[in-house]
Amino acid sequence: MSAPVVEAKGLKRTYEVKRGLFKEPGRLQAVGGISFAVEPGKTLAVVGESGCGKSTLARMVTLIEKPTEGGLTLDGIDAVNPPSGKAKDLRRMVQFVFQNPYGSLNPRKKVGTILEEPLTINTNLSSSERTERARAMMAKVGLRPEHYNRYPHMFSGGQRQRIAIARALMLSPKLVVADEPVSALDVSIQAQVLNLLADLQAEMGLAYLFISHDLGVVRHIAHDVLVMYLGIAVEQGPKERIYERPLHPYTQALLSSTPGVTGTKRQRIVLKGELPSPLNPPKGCVFSTRCPYVTERCKVERPLPRLVDGRYVACHYAENFLENPAA
Ligand SMILES: Nc1ncnc2c1ncn2[C@@H]1O[C@H](COP(=O)(O)OP(=O)(O)O)[C@@H](O)[C@H]1O
Ligand code: SF4
Ligand SMILES: [Mg+2]
Repeated sequence: MSAPVVEAKGLKRTYEVKRGLFKEPGRLQAVGGISFAVEPGKTLAVVGESGCGKSTLARMVTLIEKPTEGGLTLDGIDAVNPPSGKAKDLRRMVQFVFQNPYGSLNPRKKVGTILEEPLTINTNLSSSERTERARAMMAKVGLRPEHYNRYPHMFSGGQRQRIAIARALMLSPKLVVADEPVSALDVSIQAQVLNLLADLQAEMGLAYLFISHDLGVVRHIAHDVLVMYLGIAVEQGPKERIYERPLHPYTQALLSSTPGVTGTKRQRIVLKGELPSPLNPPKGCVFSTRCPYVTERCKVERPLPRLVDGRYVACHYAENFLENPAA
């Protein structure tokens, strides 16, 4: 076991939101206390439907936003209140890859310039050294030498995501946070980009925080999985445990609607109702308004995460699903 690259302890983020002219502003809890650690060379996949807080978590981990509460360290350094002189090191240690390769690249700049920019800003390398590094990185991510002088619009979505990945790696980060990096791509291209990310991880020992709404997408790239619902981790642990025998009813429902997940034959579980508003979350279990197994206890008592069968589950009845797999 190596020391984790990133360690989060009870990360919380709330937003003040207006609720109309004469009402008191409300407090929306986007992330309600998330903890995890990722070691070098490992991938933690954060999965949940739209609005559950994934991007908010990503913005905290990439230091774009401060948590309202909780702790975050990068390579053992406090990233919430960085020791003096360390802020710059911290920012170099973690890089972001966004969902939309169209929006995240400056359309007026050539690929070479886009890749060299982080070096221009953050290092004293000479122009020829910067070019050399950009060209080496292009080869690593599968771009051809002649692409150096082209503009982003001249590329396909998959190639643009390669450019974005190359840019993220220019300063040799230890952690890459990828927020739905393949969601905008065709399925055949998704596999290529996922394979590239896996190869780069093996070669450079990168840690990934990989965000997706789709358990199918993260199946091959993840080592650990964190299933998020209304800002809370409802199930979290090693990938094998979670895919083989999901214990939280929400994970069961997500997996049952993921095509191509092999193993025991799963019956599709259709969730009733919408995701509740994080402004007005259910009192007891966060999943109680949509859970097929809800009881009176669930409506009043919030289950705390407990270790069951090698992973953490926040459900009062997790053990029952061990004996009678529901899905
Ligand atoms: N800056 C903000 N101000 C107010 N509410 C926000 C802000 N950012 C996100 N939210 C709210 O926080 C919740 C989680 O959003 P987000 O992190 O984007 O979820 P996801 O990425 O899983 O779709 C949503 O209800 C969203 O509307
Ligand atoms: S605690 Fe109750 S409502 Fe929540 S997931 Fe478990 S069975 Fe469903
Ligand atoms: Mg998002």
